[in-house]
Amino acid sequence: MPMSQEFMQALFPKLAAINKKFAPPYHIYYEPGIRDTLRTLKNAFSFRQMDFKEFYAVKALPKPAIMDIIKSEDCGFDCSSIPELRLARYAGARPEDIMFTSNDTSEEELIEALRSCGGCILNLDGIEYIKKVQALGPFPNLISFRLHPGVSSADGSKDMRSMADPDSKYGVPIELIVEAYRQAYQAGATRFGLHTMVCSNNLDYTNLVATYKLLLDIAKRLLDELGIELEFVNVGGGLGIPYRPGDTPFDLEAFATECKESAVQFFELNGFVPSLFMESGRFVTGPHGVLVNRVINRYRKYIEFAGLQVAMPALMRVGMYSKAYHHCTVLEQDGFLIGEGSRPIIEVSGAGPICEGCDLVLKKGMLPDPREGDLFITHDTGAHGSAMGFNYNGRCRPQELLLDGLGNVRRICRAETYDDLNARHLGLEGDEHIIHLG
Ligand SMILES: Cc1ncc(COP(=O)(O)O)c(C=O)c1O
Repeated sequence: MPMSQEFMQALFPKLAAINKKFAPPYHIYYEPGIRDTLRTLKNAFSFRQMDFKEFYAVKALPKPAIMDIIKSEDCGFDCSSIPELRLARYAGARPEDIMFTSNDTSEEELIEALRSCGGCILNLDGIEYIKKVQALGPFPNLISFRLHPGVSSADGSKDMRSMADPDSKYGVPIELIVEAYRQAYQAGATRFGLHTMVCSNNLDYTNLVATYKLLLDIAKRLLDELGIELEFVNVGGGLGIPYRPGDTPFDLEAFATECKESAVQFFELNGFVPSLFMESGRFVTGPHGVLVNRVINRYRKYIEFAGLQVAMPALMRVGMYSKAYHHCTVLEQDGFLIGEGSRPIIEVSGAGPICEGCDLVLKKGMLPDPREGDLFITHDTGAHGSAMGFNYNGRCRPQELLLDGLGNVRRICRAETYDDLNARHLGLEGDEHIIHLG
């Protein structure tokens, strides 16, 4: 089910009061839900033989207030860019709390990752980066590589082709993975980890078990061929959430149980087992955010539309991915539920004002016939929502709010303004902004 009953019960009765102070549109995130999910995740994986740590994927919701919550739950951060690294450090993350998994990485990024604030766990996307890191100074003690699984499989029971596109740009091809560690060892590394991320929004936990088994398989090869005992394996993110009411939720318990079985087997055979790291974004914050919009126009073309204040600057997924769906709820303008049978249920799309046909939060969903002034709630916007928003037509991203467990609502990010967008056009008078070629 999309938005939880608890979140709904905490939010809907307060909407009228919230809207008086913070007029829609806005994203609102639910702190107790985020904390609860993090605790459930950690509990599922806590067992004697193996350490577990979640490195929240900052790209999913890069907000200092959210990162404070995540940090206070003893989690680390997965960062993929300099801004994400800076946010993690600003949140107080220590070097061992940050995994830096970039791709097509620049020298500037490597320098910031390695040299600022004590560094971080550097996760290299290719064997060719070893020389580039060496050129920057002493090679890091601890190094990790992102694996491109190609078309191989851990135990033959799962075809990794269904999980990792062989044409994808990410990671060290599996044929080169042992060589990558050999070269990193020669460069001076003494501690090692291994990472991969091969599926996204996966509701079938067995794909993630196969990923884990594949990583243990590589761990065994590294032990046998190079004598390397990996300190951790990181299965990436990719745990799915049920965006549609009928979707079966990801079976976290079964996932954890099967990982534990494999970990115990590995431990019994080899006398150690690498820690398990995960870097979920969607699973942790996705269901704990919603986008609150007002219906500002109600129109019919060849199909029915609810014209909303904002769509793609707040949520790209529906316009961008043909299969993406976000459940939506229409409420009376003061936030009351629409009485059953009081309005016809119609097929309607929720559109924003951008000059792109895909500026939608809902494509032909079934809803009580919306009216101008109604509230239009889009569920599951807590991950890969505001962070992906864009500014075509000079449209601005909405404000973001946080609802805590005591019923307080705090603005954690103000709305973007025309001045924010225009700032880059200003102050360009100096000589450094011109070259005379004629
Ligand atoms: C390297 C990496 N790790 C973690 C994530 C988080 O994925 P999700 O939010 O689907 O769990 C992503 C998402 O793109 C990613 O690229």
